[in-house]
Amino acid sequence: MAFVPLGIFLGGAVTAIPVVTGVAEGVSHQKKQNEEAANETRMIKFNILISCDSKDELADEVDKGIVVLRHNKVWIVPREDRDGKPFPKPPVPNIEPPLHAFAGFYIQYPDDERCPPERGLVSTISDDPPMLNWIYVDSNTYELRYGNRTASIQHIVGEWDWTEDESCVILEGWEGFTAIDESSAMSEEEWEQTEWGKEGLRWALYFDRDDNGLKGRRNKRNMFEVVLNRRLQSTEDQLKQLEEAEKKMQVKSRGGLKSQFTAPAAERKRGWR
Ligand SMILES: *[C@@H]1O[C@H](CO)[C@@H](O)[C@H](O)[C@H]1NC(C)=O
Ligand SMILES: *[C@@H]1O[C@H](CO)[C@@H](O)[C@H](O)[C@H]1NC(C)=O
Repeated sequence: MAFVPLGIFLGGAVTAIPVVTGVAEGVSHQKKQNEEAANETRMIKFNILISCDSKDELADEVDKGIVVLRHNKVWIVPREDRDGKPFPKPPVPNIEPPLHAFAGFYIQYPDDERCPPERGLVSTISDDPPMLNWIYVDSNTYELRYGNRTASIQHIVGEWDWTEDESCVILEGWEGFTAIDESSAMSEEEWEQTEWGKEGLRWALYFDRDDNGLKGRRNKRNMFEVVLNRRLQSTEDQLKQLEEAEKKMQVKSRGGLKSQFTAPAAERKRGWR
């Protein structure tokens, strides 16, 4: 019952996201795809909390961290709890704009060339204006990135999923995520000159796609295996965000709610989150 208003809201979004499958796959497959695409459970927004069980002292920098999106990359920073909710704890003070924590959900990636269609992962990248981007793995470096459809379509955009108990994020069927210390291939001075070094960002998320410890891609940088834990946002929080988003839409959009949903999710500039 609690999800009804959310369902209506997201239901509006789902109808406008193209659900395309090959003709040969048949009607029942199409039906399954549509059901999956409209599955509200898949669209419950979550944050990603990191755990790392390495005994190495350095691993403490990523264990109990939270995932944030910055400079087109996906980073791990320490977290702090406020009112029982996780927030990024900025490594250096007064970062502007503030670090934005991953807050996303699963939804089918709109691409006719991907057959069967792949389940993608989106996240807000800013709260005002509310914007959604795809989370993807760069097919050359295997680092996690975020971007619109144009930026992501040539890369690994799915299939994103959850573990059997729905508690953790997986990609291509397994939990091959690692954290790499981007600063460990350069001197401290060099790192401080980079755009992320200035903000104290060190640990970036990678996907060990070939299950070989990122052979040929790691460049001797420090690396730890990490687990991406899904921390579901409460219904109350989601509804509050939807209300705020709707308020903003009423102010900002000319065509009203419906017209916000005609563009594919990735290209939507604002409208919902
Ligand atoms: C939606 O997802 C949940 C959780 O995996 C699953 O139990 C349910 O059967 C799904 N519903 C549909 C219509 O696919
Ligand atoms: C998509 O992102 C790219 C940068 O990755 C940008 O140049 C382009 O304008 C964006 N497209 C849209 C439709 O926003």
